[in-house]
Amino acid sequence: MVSQMRVPIAAGNWKMNKTVKEASAFAEAFPGDASFGEVEVIICPPFTALVALANAWQQTPVKLGAQNMHWELKGAFTGEISPLMLSELGCEYVILGHSERRHIFGEKSEAIGKKVHTAFCQNLKPILCVGETIEERESGKTKETIKEQLLLGVELLESEQAKNLVIAYEPVWAIGTGKAATPEDALEVITFIREELKNKFGEEASELIRILYGGSVSPDNVYDFVNHPQIDGTLVGGASLDPTKFGKIVVQTEKAKT
Ligand code: 13P
Repeated sequence: MVSQMRVPIAAGNWKMNKTVKEASAFAEAFPGDASFGEVEVIICPPFTALVALANAWQQTPVKLGAQNMHWELKGAFTGEISPLMLSELGCEYVILGHSERRHIFGEKSEAIGKKVHTAFCQNLKPILCVGETIEERESGKTKETIKEQLLLGVELLESEQAKNLVIAYEPVWAIGTGKAATPEDALEVITFIREELKNKFGEEASELIRILYGGSVSPDNVYDFVNHPQIDGTLVGGASLDPTKFGKIVVQTEKAKT
């Protein structure tokens, strides 16, 4: 049974998938008026589908998140999206520092830290992603990597803000590979993350921060992750593109947490 203080999350990261038409078809198949129980359901589509989904899921408990944003509110930043634009569309969450942003687009932890801070100032809740590569894991550098990404990511936050933070532990080697971490491996790193958060923000704030696991989560393995009180939910890529699979993930999360 999860601590009542932390509402469990089932979040879908659609990455660069689904046109507006395809997103609308998903919303029809996943109407959002089903009973999610205690689970907070968040979908993070491409920017272009946000308006259609905000309309489709109006008056439902499904929440929307973006997959990235800039740390400034406006200006000469061609191709970027401002937090103001996301809030206006009804986004409540924003994924920041996803490993694909870090490793394909070269985002650095310092820049991600600025984004995390700006998100809070604009009433967006960041889902800050951290995770080690296979090389880092095999050379015994998992904790060192996670610590660097985590502490620079939350560097500019006060304890009061940190309470609303969501962290997603996503080992890079488990993303899109069909080879999820074991719940024990995930738990070890998640416990380490909470300990680091406690050192930085104190016990009270750190106990309120939700920490998710991500990387090849499926309807078949989700229960084993979320069944542990320290794992507050999942950030799901591939399986979140299918309304039936994602629905099952929500149901399994609800089952594990109640
Ligand atoms: P997969 O679930 O496709 O492995 O992706 C995980 C992920 O990167 C979610 O942000």
